Amino acid sequence: MFSNLKAQPADKILELMAKYREDPRQTKIDLGVGVYKNADGVTPVMRAVKAAEKQLWEEQTTKAYVGLAGDPAYSDAMIGLVLGDEVERDRIAAIATPGGTGAVRQAFELARLASPDLRVFVSSPTWPNHLSILNAMGIETVPYRYFDAESRAVDFDGMMTDLAGMRAGDVVLLHGCCHNPTGANLNMSQWREVVSLLNKTGATPMIDIAYQGFGDGLEEDAAATRLVAASVPECLIAASCSKNFGIYRERTGILMTISESADLTPVSQGNMNHLNRQSYSFPPDHGARLVTMILNDETLRADWQQELEDVRLSMLNLRKQLAEELQRLSGSDRFGFIAEHRGMFSQLGTTPEMVERLRAEHGIYMVSDSRLNIAGLNQTTVPILAKAIVDTGI
Ligand code: LMR
Repeated sequence: MFSNLKAQPADKILELMAKYREDPRQTKIDLGVGVYKNADGVTPVMRAVKAAEKQLWEEQTTKAYVGLAGDPAYSDAMIGLVLGDEVERDRIAAIATPGGTGAVRQAFELARLASPDLRVFVSSPTWPNHLSILNAMGIETVPYRYFDAESRAVDFDGMMTDLAGMRAGDVVLLHGCCHNPTGANLNMSQWREVVSLLNKTGATPMIDIAYQGFGDGLEEDAAATRLVAASVPECLIAASCSKNFGIYRERTGILMTISESADLTPVSQGNMNHLNRQSYSFPPDHGARLVTMILNDETLRADWQQELEDVRLSMLNLRKQLAEELQRLSGSDRFGFIAEHRGMFSQLGTTPEMVERLRAEHGIYMVSDSRLNIAGLNQTTVPILAKAIVDTGI
């Protein structure tokens, strides 16, 4: 039977991780996978997470199953973090999921149950795994323009023109903040125009928010998601705790749905519970429990927010330094966009050949679409990267 299996296409982010590991060069620099690293190149366990783990170890008396949707206290805490009190609670259903990826997968599953001829509009470019999941599920994708190759900002006119082709029954996948891979984001007035178009076409937004707190701040990064959620009849939201709580391997995510009216919420909730049951029964609990403890404890929450803010500011600082160094070495302002982008990533907008030269000649690893992880840099490597970019003729 297994001889019938065909090789699957490689995931370009994970493939790059493996290549980096195998590279014996001491001077190699990893700007690939989206994992935060501090100035020493370490992905630390956040202080509040450690403290919550200690408390949990002391106080937890059972590891019995929780429930198909996970702990309701986790849903409440995450709904508060992502949506504030912008949406009536009784219109929201939620399930805990294994990471943000699990939430994305369950969102597509749910949308397909509700809309068998589902088409999903995806930004061009988007996180490669969005497309990979949609392709694996056999769901039709419709790309919409997003990144302007010249300015490295959002091609908003192109985006709106392409989204005008949406209709009821379609889903449009939007990145709530810190667009992955480009780092280019809509401003609030552009988000308002997107909302008008959604309401005009009847398409359902699905917001993937995996980097809340990495862009302009915890509240600021949730603003677009809250605006959309409060302004349309129905919405899907996939959120991840991997990055902002630094609990990547604990697989902690959540899928929320907002229904048009409260009487529709139980059926959404039931369908989502069913999807969890069919996929893995009970979602993982450890990370979700830590997140719940942190968000519900004033001291832990304040400490977490402070550390997250330090992480955010360190990335902004690196952006500024890299843009300045590139300006100095190239004598041009063409890299100014790096300081304007937000989140963990920026897309340089160069060719896979140039990216390969950076890897082969300088040991600098970034994804072939020229996405670089800003958090992979430090004071020492910023000038090395800037020089390599300019020397390569990018
Ligand atoms: C990334 O985009 O690098 C992260 O979201 C990690 C992943 O799973 O691809």
